[in-house]
Amino acid sequence: MKNSQLIPSKNGLHVAIIMDGNGRWATRQGKPRHAGHQAGAAQVRRIVEAAPKQGISVLTLYAFSSDNWHRPKFEVNFLMNLFQSYLQSEIEKCAEKGVRLSFIGRRDRLNPVLLRLIDLAESRTAWGNNLHLRIAIDYSARDAILAAAGKMVGQQSPTREEFSKLLNEHLLNTEASLEVDLLIRTGGEKRLSDFLLWECAYAELYFTGTMWPDFDIGSLKRALQKFYRRQRRFGRVPLAEAI
Ligand code: FPP
Repeated sequence: MKNSQLIPSKNGLHVAIIMDGNGRWATRQGKPRHAGHQAGAAQVRRIVEAAPKQGISVLTLYAFSSDNWHRPKFEVNFLMNLFQSYLQSEIEKCAEKGVRLSFIGRRDRLNPVLLRLIDLAESRTAWGNNLHLRIAIDYSARDAILAAAGKMVGQQSPTREEFSKLLNEHLLNTEASLEVDLLIRTGGEKRLSDFLLWECAYAELYFTGTMWPDFDIGSLKRALQKFYRRQRRFGRVPLAEAI
């Protein structure tokens, strides 16, 4: 069932993914943690390629939380380099395939090389309309909400739409913030970890024990099948009972 009740947003189906389990995936194979991130990046490529065919219009990936800065320096540097090489190899492919890339999160703590690639990715792919791929780097939903609230001090309470706009200004992303339809978390944990807390107000939540490097297209299809079987009511009653 793919109907407008399931996906009310004019932006189309928005799937957000917390890509967890890279470290455990690697450790179980007797490999260092960073091997899990490397395998995770390969899985990002496959899932991004598959997403439009699965009816996904917006895909937001949690690549690096603001709390991830507290990881060992080697792992942080490895991840930053991985983001750089991902962009170096993917920007042109995304442009060709109509994938619009944008980034949410703080930018002032990112290194200049990554920042330049982010700017290039956003400008080079700005017209893509096959898929909107949003990558969250140095992202904290609570910080985004606090920053938006800070702009409101002394003013009248905003509407939800006005607040959503403010939230996204902080994320350096000018459009209104996008409501999430389906939030997937791999790796077995059942928590949101400061990801899109405002935007997930009515998201369907899907938790799987599959580690991110093993989360393949079949896994994505299963998550979507589950999503399409759910009934979304947004606090209302089912249409048939609304007499
Ligand atoms: C969480 O797993 C994963 C991360 C902090 C990094 C996510 C990064 C990638 C999937 C790779 C590249 C991404 C892009 C966009 C190119 P974890 O290491 O915390 O796993 P664990 O819970 O098993 O330790």
